[in-house]
Amino acid sequence: MPSFSERTMMIWSLCLIISLSNRILVIASSSRHLCRPYQKDALLEFKNEFHYNVMAGKTESWRNNTDCCSWKGISCDPKTGNVVELDLQDSFLNGPLRSNSSLFRLQHLQTLDLGLNNLTGILPASISNLKYLRNLTLYNCNLFGKIPSSLGNLSYLTDLDLSVNDFNGELPGSVGYLNRLTELRLVSANLSGKIPLALLNLSELTWIDLRSNKFEGMLPSNMSSLSKLIYFEISGNSFSGSVPPSLFMIPTLVDLDLGRNDFTGPLEIGDISSPSKLRVLYLGENNFNGPVPRSLSKLASLVSLDLSFWNTRRGNVDFTIFLHLKSLKLLHLSNMNTKTMVDLSLLSHLMSLGDLDLSGINLKINPTLNLPSPIKFLALSSCSIAEFPKFIQSQTRLIYLDISANQIEGQVPEWLWKLPVLWYVNISQNSFNGFKGSEDVIQKSAKVMLDISSNTFQNPFPLLPVSLMYFSCSDNRFPGEISREICKLVYLDTLVLSNNNFNGSIPRCFEYFNTTLSVLNLRNNSISGVFPAESICVYLRSLDVGHNKISGELPKSLINCTRLEFLNVEDNMFNDKFPFWLRLLPNLQILVLRSNHFHGKIFSSGASLIFPKLRIFDISRNLFTGVLPSDYFAGWSAMSSDVGIVDSTPDRILGRGSGFYHRSVALTNKGLNMELVGSGFKIYKSIDVSGNRIEGDIPTSIGLLKELIVLNMSNNVFTGGIPPSLASLTNLQSLDLSQNRLSGEIPPELGKLTFLARMNFSYNMLEGPIPQGTQIQSQNSSSFGENPGLCGFPLEETCGGNEEEATKKEEDEEKEEKDQVISWISAAIGYVPGEEGYGYLYEPGAWDGMVTSKL
Ligand SMILES: *[C@@H]1O[C@H](CO)[C@@H](O)[C@H](O)[C@H]1NC(C)=O
Ligand SMILES: *[C@@H]1O[C@H](CO)[C@@H](O)[C@H](O)[C@H]1NC(C)=O
Ligand SMILES: *[C@@H]1O[C@H](CO)[C@@H](O)[C@H](O)[C@H]1NC(C)=O
Ligand SMILES: *[C@@H]1O[C@H](CO)[C@@H](O)[C@H](O)[C@H]1NC(C)=O
Ligand SMILES: *[C@@H]1O[C@H](CO)[C@@H](O)[C@H](O)[C@H]1NC(C)=O
Ligand SMILES: *[C@@H]1O[C@H](CO)[C@@H](O)[C@H](O)[C@H]1NC(C)=O
Ligand SMILES: *[C@@H]1O[C@H](CO)[C@@H](O)[C@H](O)[C@H]1NC(C)=O
Ligand SMILES: *[C@@H]1O[C@H](CO)[C@@H](O)[C@H](O)[C@H]1NC(C)=O
Ligand SMILES: *[C@@H]1O[C@H](CO)[C@@H](O)[C@H](O)[C@H]1NC(C)=O
Ligand SMILES: *[C@@H]1O[C@H](CO)[C@@H](O)[C@H](O)[C@H]1NC(C)=O
Ligand SMILES: *[C@@H]1O[C@H](CO)[C@@H](O)[C@H](O)[C@H]1NC(C)=O
Ligand SMILES: *[C@@H]1O[C@H](CO)[C@@H](O)[C@H](O)[C@H]1NC(C)=O
Repeated sequence: MPSFSERTMMIWSLCLIISLSNRILVIASSSRHLCRPYQKDALLEFKNEFHYNVMAGKTESWRNNTDCCSWKGISCDPKTGNVVELDLQDSFLNGPLRSNSSLFRLQHLQTLDLGLNNLTGILPASISNLKYLRNLTLYNCNLFGKIPSSLGNLSYLTDLDLSVNDFNGELPGSVGYLNRLTELRLVSANLSGKIPLALLNLSELTWIDLRSNKFEGMLPSNMSSLSKLIYFEISGNSFSGSVPPSLFMIPTLVDLDLGRNDFTGPLEIGDISSPSKLRVLYLGENNFNGPVPRSLSKLASLVSLDLSFWNTRRGNVDFTIFLHLKSLKLLHLSNMNTKTMVDLSLLSHLMSLGDLDLSGINLKINPTLNLPSPIKFLALSSCSIAEFPKFIQSQTRLIYLDISANQIEGQVPEWLWKLPVLWYVNISQNSFNGFKGSEDVIQKSAKVMLDISSNTFQNPFPLLPVSLMYFSCSDNRFPGEISREICKLVYLDTLVLSNNNFNGSIPRCFEYFNTTLSVLNLRNNSISGVFPAESICVYLRSLDVGHNKISGELPKSLINCTRLEFLNVEDNMFNDKFPFWLRLLPNLQILVLRSNHFHGKIFSSGASLIFPKLRIFDISRNLFTGVLPSDYFAGWSAMSSDVGIVDSTPDRILGRGSGFYHRSVALTNKGLNMELVGSGFKIYKSIDVSGNRIEGDIPTSIGLLKELIVLNMSNNVFTGGIPPSLASLTNLQSLDLSQNRLSGEIPPELGKLTFLARMNFSYNMLEGPIPQGTQIQSQNSSSFGENPGLCGFPLEETCGGNEEEATKKEEDEEKEEKDQVISWISAAIGYVPGEEGYGYLYEPGAWDGMVTSKL
């Protein structure tokens, strides 16, 4: 059974396919001429250049003894009999398109569509042999490598679609020679660099779609040569600079999407004199600032307008601008950093509004307000709302409601659950304390996502509808045992019950979920008893039961959860040997066993630990013992290379702002408690084995973990010298080897670790001079204390140097140290992504999920 997210992904792919291939090919089934033998041969050879996994698709009907003009996917010119069209979209072709492919002998081809096949390989330059091509579609073909510049020789080309491939590098400037081109689609094709200026020569262009690539640089200042442009969509790139006013002057322009780029500055729309045709204007998630231009109100045809994350710098937004836009169906004005207080009744003139996001704007909502519009999507998060907005009751077409992060108190009204098609409800971060209505009022509704976290809910725990896929009630005051009713929720993907007062044992039912439960978070309750082995679902990706009172062994059935990425059982009473079997989980990234009664060796000669994806390994404060071999850390590849860990599933698949909570972890380092979330969490790599009884040498293979940021081996019984290989950990920011029995000198090479802001060597048997190097010298003397043989700054014991100089240095360095630590902290905390945006699923970066109203 596919997981929830995979299912969503499939639905999305379908939508994508339908939207990108909105062309219906009319295939001539008969023609006056029989096809030419050499063309038939070429086609048959072409068919045989590929292998077919499942079935042969359209080419199945291709037989040598029939007229090729009658074959599926082929059409011939009725006059000449030449094959002019080859449409093998989605025909199970597997294998590369070779540069000597017999395809290139079909010289008269005008239309070539090989979309949705697996042509894993490069696009050969010989594509330009097909010199009469008008339409070329290689959408979703697994192509990689550079786009060949020979494309520029296809001078008849009108339509080019190379979307959804993994190309490398830039779009070749030779596209500027395609002067008949009308439609250019390069969505999600991994292209980078600047877009060639020569595109401006293509005055026939009506459609440019470059969404979700890595294009950068400024747009050309004069774009008026693209005088027939209807559709210009470049969202999800890194374009920067200001938006050229000439873009808005293109009279034909209907759809302009510049969202999710790095455009800056105030927006200049220029003088819109003639009536604008613009219907869609997406400018959200850029760095625009300054006032919202009044001239927007002249764009009278606008249907969709997104200005979210426009930074007005606590300025005012004149809402009357939008009141002229009578056709608006979508209006997104979230996170504009405005001090304006808006009376929602203003918008009651917008009769067609179906999608409204005003998150972050202070709203005044009159209790008698009645918005006539058929709203389907409503986001009013952080709007300083103090009372449940009553107008919502009549919004019977509402699908999505986010009123999180307001100041609403009391009970959730009963009518909310009676809205017939509402499936996403987010009322988190308010002060709700209960639910009005009968016990099963929520259960009878068909909600799919329900977030009631961070309120003051207590008993009774609500009865939940079986349709739920996402449920979070974290940070409330629910007491008592976890309701066994939860076992009935067979569609659950995510269940978050953390930070409540749940007690009793874990229900023995998760296995029977028959669901794809992939996230289970029971953190910080008072759950006790043994973890029931049978309550593990094999689809788990994230399991967090930290800060409870669970005892017994770690359930071995976890071994069947091959998707597991995150396992945190910290601060319980688990009493078990080191779970060597976890090495069989190929996707494990985070393992936290901290503060339990785990014991015994963490090395077994029969079962070497290789954690290819592990990034956080925290087994501190247990009773582990034994010696580690010097190659202990070999094979922990995620910590030894900066290969990004690709997340298996987009996070925000479930909706705008749906959380990353299961990808956050609370860490205690350098005495700081911090919670890492988002992308910082992704790059954070640490090992903490402190507070055990591990003995022997520190394994020299530690030096392989070049990406390590925090290493804590303190409070063990390590002996021998500090391995000089530690100096290879050039990203290390914190190193704690204190309270061991280490001897010998501190390797001078450690002085070169420029990011190392904090270190502690105290309580060992080290000797000799403390190495030179700014970072080491900036430490407090206590970092080196209680080592009978150590000398030199910052200790008072000199190795024979000038003491006065040293004291002066100490003062300087102490100040520097403070700065260092602060910058380290802000660097660590600064990783928290501020963006709560939304995007397109097929965006290569997995952090941007989706569900957009553009669906
Ligand atoms: C098709 O049949 C012709 C005549 O029988 C033969 O010459 C030719 O080689 C065949 N082509 C293929 C690709 O089998
Ligand atoms: C695509 O082709 C490549 C190489 O030919 C192969 O490894 C891969 O499994 C194929 N993918 C699919 C989905 O068939
Ligand atoms: C095309 O080239 C490949 C090697 O790149 C070769 O194996 C194959 O025989 C060639 N095919 C034809 C039809 O020439
Ligand atoms: C080829 O492109 C033209 C121009 O965009 C379009 O009108 C036509 O339908 C396309 N033909 C095919 C077979 O896709
Ligand atoms: C186009 O074709 C000509 C001659 O066939 C060749 O010299 C030229 O390099 C080609 N242009 C591109 C951009 O490939
Ligand atoms: C995408 O392009 C970059 C260069 O910009 C390249 O390093 C990377 O390998 C490409 N990704 C894929 C999946 O081909
Ligand atoms: C684009 O047009 C300019 C001037 O009209 C010309 O100099 C340039 O060569 C053209 N570029 C291409 C790629 O056709
Ligand atoms: C912009 O380019 C067009 C032709 O491409 C030219 O007619 C016009 O004068 C240019 N405008 C400016 C302001 O340079
Ligand atoms: C669980 O909590 C409930 C309500 O606070 C309490 O009555 C009950 O005794 C607790 N049970 C256990 C096993 O601690
Ligand atoms: C789970 O699946 C099994 C076998 O597919 C079935 O017998 C059982 O009734 C299902 N349980 C639930 C709660 O749907
Ligand atoms: C893993 O799953 C298999 C098949 O369902 C089962 O037989 C086995 O007992 C499970 N392993 C563990 C350790 O639970
Ligand atoms: C609900 O809203 C809060 C606050 O805006 C957000 O952090 C959370 O991710 C949302 N929950 C879901 C499931 O989208």
